[in-house]
Amino acid sequence: MPALVLLGAQWGDEGKGKATDLLGGSVDYVVRYQGGNNAGHTVVVGDQKYALHLLPSGILSPGCTPVIGNGVVVDPSVLLSELSGLNERGVDTSKLLISGNAHIITPYNVTVDKVTERFLGKRKIGTTGRGIGPTYADKINRVGIRVQDLYDESILTQKVEAALDVKNQVLTKLYNRRAIAVGQVVEELLGYAAQIERYVADTVLVLNQALDDDKVVLFEGGQGTLLDIDHGTYPFVTSSNPTAGGACTGAGVGPTKISRVIGILKAYTTRVGAGPFPTELFDEDGEALRRIGGERGVTTGRDRRCGWFDAVIARYATRVNGLTDFFLTKLDVLTGWEQIPVCVAYEIDGKRVEELPYSQTDFHHAKPVYETLPGWSEDITKAKSFSDLPKNAQNYVKALEEMSGAPISAIGVGPGRDETIEINSFL
Ligand code: GDP
Ligand code: IMO
Ligand code: MG
Repeated sequence: MPALVLLGAQWGDEGKGKATDLLGGSVDYVVRYQGGNNAGHTVVVGDQKYALHLLPSGILSPGCTPVIGNGVVVDPSVLLSELSGLNERGVDTSKLLISGNAHIITPYNVTVDKVTERFLGKRKIGTTGRGIGPTYADKINRVGIRVQDLYDESILTQKVEAALDVKNQVLTKLYNRRAIAVGQVVEELLGYAAQIERYVADTVLVLNQALDDDKVVLFEGGQGTLLDIDHGTYPFVTSSNPTAGGACTGAGVGPTKISRVIGILKAYTTRVGAGPFPTELFDEDGEALRRIGGERGVTTGRDRRCGWFDAVIARYATRVNGLTDFFLTKLDVLTGWEQIPVCVAYEIDGKRVEELPYSQTDFHHAKPVYETLPGWSEDITKAKSFSDLPKNAQNYVKALEEMSGAPISAIGVGPGRDETIEINSFL
C-alpha cells in the first residue's frame, strides 16, 4: 500500500521540506495534515531556494498534486501570497486541493495569539505568532470558521458573531484592546472566497480514491514529534498532532492504509521557542552548529537553539510514531569536529534514565549522559553512497541508527536535492 508519512522526529526544522521535495517527483499526492503557516520548509532546487509555509513541499514537483488536508489551519492571506509568489517564479500551482473542512486562521486568531503571548510574559511559549493555537482552540470549542463557511455569507456571519462574542469581552476587559467588528472580519473573509474557491475539494474522497487506485500518497508533517500537543514537551508545543496518527485524522485516511512512516532526524538537535532541551549548548560548539548549519528560523527569523544529537528523543520518536525508517539530515554540518558527543541517556536526580520521562518535572531536570564518537574532517557533500563516507562518519551514522531504533534509509549531506545518500528506497 503506497501511503507514506514523513514527519519531524525532533523539535521541527529537521529538513522535512527537502525530504518531501526529494520524493515529490515519484509520488502522486503530497498532503499537509496539520499545522499551518507556523511551518517553514526550505527546498533548494538547483540554484533556486524556496521557503514554503503553508503549501505542501510537493508543489514544486510538476506531476504531483499538493493537498491541504482537513487537519490544517489556513490563513487565506498567506495562502494567496504564497501562491502568487510561486506563480511569479514560474511554478504551476493549479493542481492544489484544499479541504473544505480545514479551519481558517482569522485575523482575530492572530491578534489573540500575540496578545496572549504578551500577557504570559516570562511564561510565554514563544509561538510563531501566526494564530495557530487560538485557531485550533476555536476548532475544539466548536466556534471555528471552516473553508466551506466562506461560501455561505449568512452562516459565516453567524459563526464570526459566535466566535467574537466571548473574545471581544476578553480583548476589551482583560487585555485592554479594542473590540473587533464582526462586519469587518466577514468582509475580509468574503474577499478571499472567490480566489480560493477553485481549489476547494472533498479531499478525503479524493485521497481515498487515489489510494484505492494504487496511487502513491505522501503525508508531510509540519513541526515535529516533540512539538506534538499530546506527545511533545507540553505546554511548550504547537497545538496540533505532527505525530503519525495525525496524518490519519488530519487527512481522513485510515491507519490501515499507511505503509511506511519516515522520521526526519537531524544529525544534531535544534529547537525554536521556549521549553526544555537537555542537550542545548551555550558555548562555542552551539554557536558553530548554528553558524555552519544556518540555524535561523525560516518563519520568524529567530536564531535556533542548538545542541548535540539526543538518542533518547530519537528512540521516543520511533516509538510514538511507529517509525519504519529515518532520514538523517545535515550530516555535513558535523564535518570538522574531532570528537562528537551524543546523548545516550539522561541523568535525572542522580539516576540514569534510558527513556524519555513522562513527567514534565523530570524532563526539566534531565542532564544528558554523553558518549563521544570520533569525528571526520573530509568534505562529505559529494558523497553519493554510504561507502563514499569517511569511516568515522559511517560509524557515527551506524551508532545513531543502533541507538535510535529504526534503520537510517537516507542521509542528507547538503541542502540540494542531489546532496543525498540513498540507502534503502522509500518507494
Ligand atoms: P523543515 O522545517 O523540517 O522543512 O526544515 P527547515 O527548512 O526549516 O530547516 C532545514 C534547513 O536545512 C534548510 O535550510 C534546508 O535547506 C537545510 N538542509 C536540509 N537538509 C540538509 C542537509 O542534509 N545538509 C545541509 N547542510 N542542509 C540541509
Ligand atoms: P517546521 O514545520 C520549529 C514552535 C514555535 C513555538 C511552538 C508553538 O518548520 O518544522 P505555534 O506558533 O505553533 O503555536 O508555536 O512551536 N514551532 C516550530 N518550531 N519548526 C516549526 O515548523 C515550528 N512551528 C512551530 O517556535 O515554540
Ligand atoms: Mg522549518
